[in-house]
Amino acid sequence: MTPTLNVQDLRIAFSHRAGNIEAVDGVSFQIGPAECVGIVGESGSGKTQIFMAAMGLLAGNARATGSVRFEGAELLAAHPTALNRIRGSKLTMIPQDPMTCLTPHLKIGVQLAEVMVTHRGTTWRDARSYAARMLERVHVAEPRRRLNQYPHELSGGLRQRVMIAMSVLCEPSLVIADEPTTALDVTVQAQVMELLRALRGEFGMALALISHDLAVVAGLADRILVMYAGRIVEVAAAAELFRRPRHPYTAELLKCMPTIAGPRAVRLPTLAGQPPRPGEVLQACAFAPRCSRAADRCRMERPELVGPADAQVACHFPLSHD
Ligand SMILES: Nc1ncnc2c1ncn2[C@@H]1O[C@H](COP(=O)(O)OP(=O)(O)OP(=O)(O)O)[C@@H](O)[C@H]1O
Ligand SMILES: [Mg+2]
Repeated sequence: MTPTLNVQDLRIAFSHRAGNIEAVDGVSFQIGPAECVGIVGESGSGKTQIFMAAMGLLAGNARATGSVRFEGAELLAAHPTALNRIRGSKLTMIPQDPMTCLTPHLKIGVQLAEVMVTHRGTTWRDARSYAARMLERVHVAEPRRRLNQYPHELSGGLRQRVMIAMSVLCEPSLVIADEPTTALDVTVQAQVMELLRALRGEFGMALALISHDLAVVAGLADRILVMYAGRIVEVAAAAELFRRPRHPYTAELLKCMPTIAGPRAVRLPTLAGQPPRPGEVLQACAFAPRCSRAADRCRMERPELVGPADAQVACHFPLSHD
């Protein structure tokens, strides 16, 4: 079966006054049809740039090599016309801050309807009716009134619902949700995650769920990729990753996760130290300086992902669970 997204040896470097910054350093993974994959890792680990490359939205100073295939078609070298046919219809992105993607001077109704008119050839009238129905589907009250409002007239939670509605209008094969709840308060966060779960069930699309927070992806992801300093350090089925993390970095991330059963008013642990600076040349395991296990020996060479496809780890001395 052709994967929905197939990323092979993707490298993304930014040219910068201070030299080249390798933001993504040889990343390979697949997302299957209707699969939800969580991508987690600290800020700056390269999560967003992988998917910016897929969307053809990398900054001008970026150079990407390797391969990113969407339903078998190569996206990295794709002609803008070919990319525009896929982007926004079969492959969509829900951004961290919807304000950056909604056009401030256009009413919500125009922006939603335009997607249907452009990609489906629908009339403006039908597109508006469909947009209103979709807003209703994502639990936006008074959808007809909302169509006539500008983005700045909506709350952050409502704007995110509009972006979610826009992302599923054309029944996509893959929705990329980049930190979809970071800018929202906790109650709205839970509602948005629940909405994504329901829409996934309804439309059967694959979902790439990016977050720096394992707790956010916990309830939704089938599989989780853990990123550190531009590399994937562990891939595992979600339940397995939570039960038996094998990379020391994953184990540290899990320790930083709140649990309902935990004692109240206890300060959560934080991961000591800093990830490598952008542009720093990494010869070995990038996590070695912060790792409590066999750090000296780890520095000897760069670990590669090993293990079966659904449970890989890049650590010479993975955690054992005897
Ligand atoms: N235009 C650019 N020029 C130079 N460096 C860049 C540029 N865009 C991104 N980067 C660098 O690429 C690295 C990876 O960025 P990316 O946005 O993918 O991180 P992230 O894992 O999504 O982090 P966050 O959780 O904060 O969103 C960072 O070090 C960032 O500074
Ligand atoms: Mg990001």
